[in-house]
Parts: sequence; structure tokens; C-alpha cells
Amino acid sequence: MDCKKFVAKQVAEIRRTVGNATAISALSGGVDSSVVTVLGHLAIGKRMKVLFIDDGLMRQDEPQTVRKVFAKLGIKVQVLDAAERFFNAFKGLTDPEEKRKAFRETFYRVFEDAVRASGATYLLQGTIKPDIIETQKGVKTQHNVLPQIGMDTKKLFGFEVVEPVKELYKPGVRRVAKALGLPAVISQRMPFPGPGLSARCMGEVTPERIAIVRKGCQIVEQEMEGSKAFQTFVVLLADRPTGITEDGHRREGDALAIRCVDSTNAVTAKATKVSWAKLVRMRDRILKEIPTVTKVLYDLTPKPPSTIEYI
Ligand code: XMP
Repeated sequence: MDCKKFVAKQVAEIRRTVGNATAISALSGGVDSSVVTVLGHLAIGKRMKVLFIDDGLMRQDEPQTVRKVFAKLGIKVQVLDAAERFFNAFKGLTDPEEKRKAFRETFYRVFEDAVRASGATYLLQGTIKPDIIETQKGVKTQHNVLPQIGMDTKKLFGFEVVEPVKELYKPGVRRVAKALGLPAVISQRMPFPGPGLSARCMGEVTPERIAIVRKGCQIVEQEMEGSKAFQTFVVLLADRPTGITEDGHRREGDALAIRCVDSTNAVTAKATKVSWAKLVRMRDRILKEIPTVTKVLYDLTPKPPSTIEYI
């Protein structure tokens, strides 16, 4: 792919589609939506508003980091705190697909409100090829795949979806990101699922349980920094394994699985060969920094038969 040609073509296409109307870019801080945001900015400048929804399911310090990076590019990002709406939507849900549906519905409802308030009629989003493939194959409904499954966003939410990178896989998006001058913290950023840390939380999604996942992910990301792994994170399982206190009393606690995978396009993946010393270090930090944990596991499963995330 010739990145320059791709950029020119997509910029022209966004201009043609949006015309004189206004658009909102759904920025998550990942490489896909960041590329789309820059393309939109080049195409229609101030007629595109950039919205970062803080759904309460983000990694540590994510909203601040994203705002800073885009400020440097001269792109203003509006952060909307919608955490309460998302946690309310998750109440009582444990089934993975029900959780995905609750996330997706809340996500678009939040955008619907924002879009209506701004008068925009287009939503720019960073759907990529694997999102569409996995949804159409029925593996899991990715949060951002709507027109491809027959959902009429204009009727449902009052805006049309524009997806400039929907034909690309991750490596292609990264190349375009570089060509657009996005810094390495974005262009090389580890993929992060749309439904955020909820995809790493088995059982009910609550602020307390998400805080555990967030801390665990931060530890694993810090310890694995510089590795060639495609993604590194933890998952909070729904089980409550029995543990024992220092003074010999029984207690139930949380079970965290460390998940590190090697992959090029997320369609298949293998567990990363992590050294024993590194695993022990991550385990020790998790036990020390998250005192409710009574079980730390390392997930060895490839995709297939597993998927990368847990829901
Ligand atoms: P799975 O878990 O299906 O994930 O093997 C494949 C890749 O996609 C990411 N992922 C998502 N990305 N919306 C996204 O934008 C989603 O709903 C979603 N679910 C998973 C996942 O992190 C991995 O890189």
C-alpha cells in the first residue's frame, strides 16, 4: 500500500461524503481512531469535533495522555465523562455478548446525545477489517460494527458512520499513522478493545472490579514494556478462589490471568514465551499491589481455539 495515496484518497472521500455538514470523530486514543481523527482533521478541519468518551473502562491515565498527544498536533479533544452511564448499563450482566451489547448501545447513545447537541450528521470511526470479519462470522460483535450487520445508524441514532480505515489490518493502520506524523506512542500503541477493560472482566462489570483489572494491566504493561508481544494485559476471572492469610485463616479472593500474545493481525495469536523470572516479578507485584488477589495464572492458549480477549 502506498500510504501517501491512501491518505489523499481517504481525505478526498471524507470531504466528498461529509460535504458542507459537520462530523464528530470518535477518538479512543488507539491507533485506528487516531488515524481517522487526523484524516478527518485534514479533510474538514474545524468542521470535525473530536470527542473522547471516558467510559470508565480505560487504562490508567488514558484521557490525559490522549488529550496531550492531540494538543501537540493542534487537534482539540473534548473529553466526556460517561462512566456512570456505562456502569449502570452493565448492572447485573454476566453474559459476554449481553455485556458487549450493553456497551455498544450505551456507546452509541452517548454519541447520539453528543451528535444531536452539536448538530453533526456524521460519525467518523476507526473500524478495521478484523472487527468486521469477526462480527460477520459471529465470533463476537465488535462494538463499532453497525452498518455491516444491517443497522441503519441514520434511523437509529441520527448520524451516518464514516469508516476510512475499514479495509486495513493493524500493520497497515500503523504505517498510515507513521505517514501522518503521529508519534510512536500512538502508531506503535498496543491494540485495546473498544469495550475497554470490560473485555477483561469476567462476571459483572463494576467500578471496583474494573479498578483491579486496570491496576493489573498497568503492572503487566510496565513489566512487559519493550517486548515484542502484540498485547499484554490481565483478566479478572469470575471465580473466587480460596486463599489463606499469613496467619492461617481461610479467605476468598480474586483470580487474575496474565495474557500476553504474539500476533501480527489479531486474527490468530500465540501465547508469548515469557521468562520465568519475568512471570514471577509480575506475580509478586500483582500480589503486593492488589491485595485481594489469591490466584495469579498465565494463559497459554493460542487463538484459535481461544480469542485474545476474554469476552
Ligand atoms: P479477540 O478477543 O476477538 O480480539 O481475539 C481481536 C483483537 O481485537 C481487539 N478487540 C476489539 N477491538 N472493538 C475493538 O475495536 C471490540 O469490540 C474488540 N474486541 C476485541 C482485541 O483487543 C484484539 O486486538
